[in-house]
Parts: sequence; structure tokens; C-alpha cells
Amino acid sequence: MHLVPLSDTQLAVHTRGSGLPLLLLHGFPLDHAMWAGQDPLADHLRLIVPDQRGFGRSGGAVPESIPQLADDAVAVLDALHVSEPAIVCGLSMGGYVAQHIAARHPHRVRALILVDTKLEADTPEARAGRRDLAAKVERLGSEIVAEAMIPNLLASSAAAREAPQRGEIEAGLRRTILATPVPTIVAALAALGGRPDMVEAMRQVPVPTLLVVGAEDAITPPECLERAEAVFAAARLLIVPQCGHMTPLESPAVFNAAVLAFLWEQVGHSAAPAAG
Ligand code: MLT
Repeated sequence: MHLVPLSDTQLAVHTRGSGLPLLLLHGFPLDHAMWAGQDPLADHLRLIVPDQRGFGRSGGAVPESIPQLADDAVAVLDALHVSEPAIVCGLSMGGYVAQHIAARHPHRVRALILVDTKLEADTPEARAGRRDLAAKVERLGSEIVAEAMIPNLLASSAAAREAPQRGEIEAGLRRTILATPVPTIVAALAALGGRPDMVEAMRQVPVPTLLVVGAEDAITPPECLERAEAVFAAARLLIVPQCGHMTPLESPAVFNAAVLAFLWEQVGHSAAPAAG
């Protein structure tokens, strides 16, 4: 693990592998551990997996806005001397951050992978829901977020609930959410609610884009990514069966194969192990 100093805090960043850089940005209120199923991609790519500010082992400052998290991620690339454009991949909140990297720092992005996320801003009702949840978290602690979110994070069909890793995945998500400090959760809920609509900005993104969503995603359902597919200049959409809002964690083999196939077809990057 690297500790990357920023002007006002430091970020814990996990790196593995070598070759074309793949930045993996976690969702809310999680940390780098949600990408554990992507470890095999380190045979082909240089994985860069930060705990975003306030989450995981990146202590100190809380997130103030999604654009700020995008600038943090670019500071991580700078600190790791990643000068070539990276493959930028984010899930849900991480997907919002990835969109802002593409808009604010286009020359840092070789391709975009948006997972279980959306382009549109919150509705007034969704914002009000986040304010209510933040007030409850301040009173009752992060347990209330685990209770509110976990039933919606994973696929709900019988086949998905009976999957062998299901109990372990659920326990891991609960552990991470309970370990996330209340000030981080409260600040991130405000940042999520205040994020701008990115539809027009994403029309200008010229790089190849892979959109992935779980067929049973209850938070950002497939329609969100179907709408996004029509916005990007060069997007392809994959809907993964028996997955909810955590596709890379619920179906890592399908997700990883899709990433490698996309990079091979769209970026000309070989799936062969990287040298060195
Ligand atoms: C996430 O998974 O990052 C959150 O559900 C995003 C959101 O609430 O918009």
C-alpha cells in the first residue's frame, strides 16, 4: 500500500501488476476491498486502487464534492508517475468520479468503464432521502446505512441469494460500511446529492466506453446504463445476469473477462500477461 500525500490529507492506494494503468474507484460507502475480485487483472494491467478521501485507510479529510474526488484521483496518478492516459473505471459513486475525471482531465483517460452508475443528477426526492439518511446516521451511527443499503446492494433473485460466496460478500460489505466514519458518510451523502447532471458533458467524451450493470441492480437499474449508452460517442453496454449493484464483486469472472475483451477490441491492448 502507498500513502499518497495531498495538500490537505493523504490517500491509501493499493497497486498491483504492471502495464497499462487501470484506475479502480470504489462506490459509497465502501473502500478498495470491493475490487478484490479484480486481482486477477493484475496479470495483464497495472491496477491502481485508492481508498477515496475519508474512506478505508484514507483518514482525515471528508469528501466535499464529486469533482474534488476526481481531482484527488488524478493527484494519485501524478504521485505514482502515471504519465500515460489510464483506463478509468468506477462503480456507482466511483462512476460519478470517473465521469468527472473524463470531463475535467480528458487527457488522463484512455478509456472509460462505468459500472452500476448513472449520468443524471439526483431528483429532489433522492436529495431529500439522502438528507434524511444523513440525519439518521448522525443520530444512530453507520449501522443504519448498512441496514438501509445492504438489502439493495446485491441481487435478490433466488439463484443469486443461493450463490456460494453470497454470505461472505454480504459480511464483507457490512464490515466495510460499519468501519466508515460517520463524518465521511454524512459528507459523502451531501456530495452525492449535490453532484451535477453529466449527460451533456459525457456527449463530448471521445474515448471508448464500456458500460456494465447488474441485471438486478436496484439502485442504478439497467435503464440508467441504457440511457447512458445513447449518450456516449462510442459506448458498449453489458448487462450481467444474477448481479445487483455490485457486479464486479458478484460476478468477478464475467466482469474481468468483459474488461479484457473491451481493452483488446477497443484499445488494442493484449490480454496476454504484461512483461515485467
Ligand atoms: C454507491 O453505490 O456508490 C451509491 O449507491 C451511489 C449513490 O447513492 O448514488
